[in-house]
Amino acid sequence: MKGLCILGATGSIGVSTLDVAARHPHLYKVIALTANSNIDVLFQQCLAHHPQYVVVVNESKSQEFQQKISHSQVSDIKVLTGAEALEIVATLDEVDSVMAAIVGAAGLLPSLAAAKAGKTVLLANKEALVMSGDIFMDAVTASGAHLLPIDSEHNAIFQCMPAHYKTGTDGKQVRRILLTASGGPFREMPIEKMADVTPEQAVAHPNWDMGKKISVDSATMMNKGLEMIEACLLFNMSPEQIQVVIHPQSVIHSMVDYVDGTVLAQMGNPDMRIPIAHAMAWPERFDSGAKPLNIFDVRRMDFEEPNLQRFPCLRLAYKAIHAGGTMPTVLNAANEIAVEAFLDRRVKFTDIPVIIEQCMDAIAVAVADTLAVILDHDQQARTVAKQIIADRLN
Ligand SMILES: NC(=O)c1ccc[n+]([C@@H]2O[C@H](COP(=O)([O-])OP(=O)(O)OC[C@H]3O[C@@H](n4cnc5c(N)ncnc54)[C@H](OP(=O)(O)O)[C@@H]3O)[C@@H](O)[C@H]2O)c1
Repeated sequence: MKGLCILGATGSIGVSTLDVAARHPHLYKVIALTANSNIDVLFQQCLAHHPQYVVVVNESKSQEFQQKISHSQVSDIKVLTGAEALEIVATLDEVDSVMAAIVGAAGLLPSLAAAKAGKTVLLANKEALVMSGDIFMDAVTASGAHLLPIDSEHNAIFQCMPAHYKTGTDGKQVRRILLTASGGPFREMPIEKMADVTPEQAVAHPNWDMGKKISVDSATMMNKGLEMIEACLLFNMSPEQIQVVIHPQSVIHSMVDYVDGTVLAQMGNPDMRIPIAHAMAWPERFDSGAKPLNIFDVRRMDFEEPNLQRFPCLRLAYKAIHAGGTMPTVLNAANEIAVEAFLDRRVKFTDIPVIIEQCMDAIAVAVADTLAVILDHDQQARTVAKQIIADRLN
């Protein structure tokens, strides 16, 4: 029986994780659930899964939650608050596996704490890895933690990689990774019309049902840019070894191209419970609840090269990884601020890459050898991006 902590339980990945865990009560016990402020969903999750701990980061919501449970059958749950409490629950002795599913930079410190504590880290929170890079990977190596990717593409690559890829022999065997992307909702929209897209259009992804931020990232293809950086770190590849491939049907979730000409692909319906169940059962397999793929329903599979004029965010991600150091952190922070402003209707969809690039050009790159430097550059980028947005509005 493994103890499970879900960071970001109330989000799209968190909900899918609980769905998978509930199918295997003899294998997983839910120890801790965390939310930022969505206490209604959290309360329902507590009634269904009765964890020992919850964290509600927002303090006033946490007090409200404490009152909400006080006369219920889950009144014995320990309720913690504040961002530091995330690290406490992610490193509890009773916890074996941590699902890192907080969105954005807010997930960095608890995900890193879980890695340092040697937990099995199920990593959905790609922003944490993009920001902390080698620091995160070194923490995993030093503690002996298992790091299992949840992003469907990285999970697919993990499944197609040689079992011993961590030993470094992959360098001789793997030529490149083919990282698939659906192309999002605006793959075929005339480029001149993209300035007018609304947040509602941007979050309506054709194949996946996801949180708002990652849905906008998919529409701009910043998501693929972050994933390219994530793939370099997870699989020890150079950016030149990652080929982004637009595959609108989202049936193949990525491929590994070997030196002998073999290409291995992982396929399945677009349902995040598949990579989640893969990581939770690893190295075994168990039922995810997802519909089996009916290969006869897959009438065709198309593959295209991405158009960097349509998707400048992808170009910016390559620019950031080539600059190295703190630049991926700046890219990520500027993107978070720009996406938030777009969702609040303060900037246009096409302003997002412009804001990010101005921010990247304004901040000098530094060596990202300590967490303090990374967090400092994250803050600098947020301040600069907010100023760029304010200047555009004036
Ligand atoms: N959704 C997918 O299919 C998918 C696929 C691959 C990778 N991912 C990655 O998985 C992560 C989560 O994505 P999602 O789609 O599940 O996001 P989401 O639906 O927006 O959920 C985000 C979760 O993070 C919590 N949260 C937000 N801000 C927080 C803060 N400041 N402190 C603590 N907790 C905070 C939210 O709590 P409240 O509900 O209380 O706000 C919620 O539980 C992202 O990094 C995303 O890139 C997602």
